[in-house]
Amino acid sequence: MNSPYVSFKHTTYFDSYDYFFDTYRDKDITFVEIGILDGGSLFMWRDYFGSNARIIGVDLNPEAKKWEKEGFEIYIGSQSDKNFWKEFVNDVGEIDIVLDDGGHTYSQQIITTESLLPHIKDGGLIVVEDTHTSYLNGFGDVSFSFIEYVKEHIDKINMRFGSFEKYKAERRFWSVEVVEGMVAFKINRAASVLKSEPIFNIGSTFSAKDFRFEDSNALMSVEQIFNKDEQIFNKKNPKNEITLEQLEEVLTNIKVNHPQIIKRLKDFLD
Ligand SMILES: C[S@@+](CC[C@H](N)C(=O)[O-])C[C@H]1O[C@@H](n2cnc3c(N)ncnc32)[C@H](O)[C@@H]1O
Repeated sequence: MNSPYVSFKHTTYFDSYDYFFDTYRDKDITFVEIGILDGGSLFMWRDYFGSNARIIGVDLNPEAKKWEKEGFEIYIGSQSDKNFWKEFVNDVGEIDIVLDDGGHTYSQQIITTESLLPHIKDGGLIVVEDTHTSYLNGFGDVSFSFIEYVKEHIDKINMRFGSFEKYKAERRFWSVEVVEGMVAFKINRAASVLKSEPIFNIGSTFSAKDFRFEDSNALMSVEQIFNKDEQIFNKKNPKNEITLEQLEEVLTNIKVNHPQIIKRLKDFLD
């Protein structure tokens, strides 16, 4: 960590930085870090990316403006303010890399990602740091945590499959990659909008027999294959999980809040 000022990171992050950022070193790129604190990471990024990189820092603390005299571009505003981001991108233009090391609450992380995704250059990426906050108290409602948002987007990436046309697929980024404490959204616009359909290299039939129907284990439940202590899935199978009391509680809730659904259910059961 080559910097004359204090920076606060985690030991496991440096391999991940190299993995995500190595190909951008010594290039003419625009790099944005949210979260400046003592300015140490700004100098580290200048050292890492080289003098051709435009290094931009964002912080809510107006004192961070002082780093402008060191040649960094500094923007003061809140990452949880959508309007701040609108003005920011109008000013800054397209970005190669965003690294979010700001306040680490779920709304801050999600608003930042949603606001900046359309403004990342093709081939660029957004990396959100300290995503372990999704498993901690004090960063927002955990049912809408940043990692829950990521999980939903994994489903939305898979909705690009040709037969799922009626579902809303995610096409703003191509992939989402998870390492400890970080999530990276990679932009590849051509690949993200490509229509997913079967394709043959030669002809349109197979001559080999497809043995998929010969595998007697193929559809066996993973619960039958692995012991409980192997913990392949932590979540319980909902089929075995719900008790009559729980079902009654859910139905009572629906009866009170959505009586029309109960009426439709009755019609359905009759
Ligand atoms: C973890 S520190 C940044 C550490 C720095 N990147 C480093 O490596 O040393 C978090 C920074 O995010 C800033 N911050 C917190 N909430 C913010 C918000 N809503 N918008 C912008 N910056 C915020 C804080 O003022 C603080 O400087």
